[in-house]
Amino acid sequence: MDRFTGRTALITGASRGIGLAIAQRIVAEGGSVVITARKQDELNAAVAELGPNASAVAGHADDPDHRVAVFAHIAERHGHLDHLVNNAGINPAYGPLLSVDDEPARKIFEVNVLATLAWTREAVAAGLQRSVVNLASIAGLSAAPGIGLYGVSKGAVINLTIQLAHELAPALRVNAVAPAVVKTRFARALYEGNEEQAASVYTLGRLGEPDDVAGPVAFLLSDDAAWITGQTIVIDGGAMLHGIG
Ligand SMILES: NC(=O)c1ccc[n+]([C@@H]2O[C@H](COP(=O)([O-])OP(=O)(O)OC[C@H]3O[C@@H](n4cnc5c(N)ncnc54)[C@H](OP(=O)(O)O)[C@@H]3O)[C@@H](O)[C@H]2O)c1
Repeated sequence: MDRFTGRTALITGASRGIGLAIAQRIVAEGGSVVITARKQDELNAAVAELGPNASAVAGHADDPDHRVAVFAHIAERHGHLDHLVNNAGINPAYGPLLSVDDEPARKIFEVNVLATLAWTREAVAAGLQRSVVNLASIAGLSAAPGIGLYGVSKGAVINLTIQLAHELAPALRVNAVAPAVVKTRFARALYEGNEEQAASVYTLGRLGEPDDVAGPVAFLLSDDAAWITGQTIVIDGGAMLHGIG
């Protein structure tokens, strides 16, 4: 497939994990990618792996100056932007909701929700031409013991997707994906040392891999999804069929 030939995609938080798999998919289908993350050395390694159609800008997703630098880079290197993937997400707070302090709570919302809105706003101002995909989570659709506030933030991402899809139509499509546990550094604590047991609740018998998410994201970004907007696709190996969130 060649769905991204001549197109440019911005993917936040893409030096590894799901974001890097999305970047690989877009490059493999003829596109160019601009990726972000906080650590320059990991970004350099990702760009080396992705090849000449990739470039990177380091910074924090919730830093307005970083976003200005990213859009300046895109204007200079590509002159246009077709797709935005709001992938950067954090979870610095574990435990019951009532035990989470204000500061980590605020940070979760700043990165997962407000930065997603800000990247979208600034991408539109920079002339974004086609589509947005936001990374939500099944934690945003069901109870998520121990990571409840993260779930609240991802629930907000799902509703943000609906509101943005409404406001930005018909010029732009905005969708989301809601994965269950995908084997990345972010989710390691949820499966390391007990992967077999963790996988046993999944109808399809295994945890997710980054590419399991990259495929549906590429679909939603592409013209194959030309009549889909405001939707959140659950990517969970069938976990929710058992009522597992
Ligand atoms: N893995 C799962 O099970 C799972 C399930 C559902 C949803 N998700 C969502 O999927 C997205 C990607 O997660 P992942 O599992 O691929 O994580 P990951 O493997 O840990 O990768 C996260 C990426 O984001 C970057 N990053 C982290 N915090 C950032 C920040 N504040 N600003 C800019 N970049 C930042 C990281 O690089 P630096 O550390 O250098 O910044 C890295 O490139 C997140 O939104 C997450 O909530 C993941």
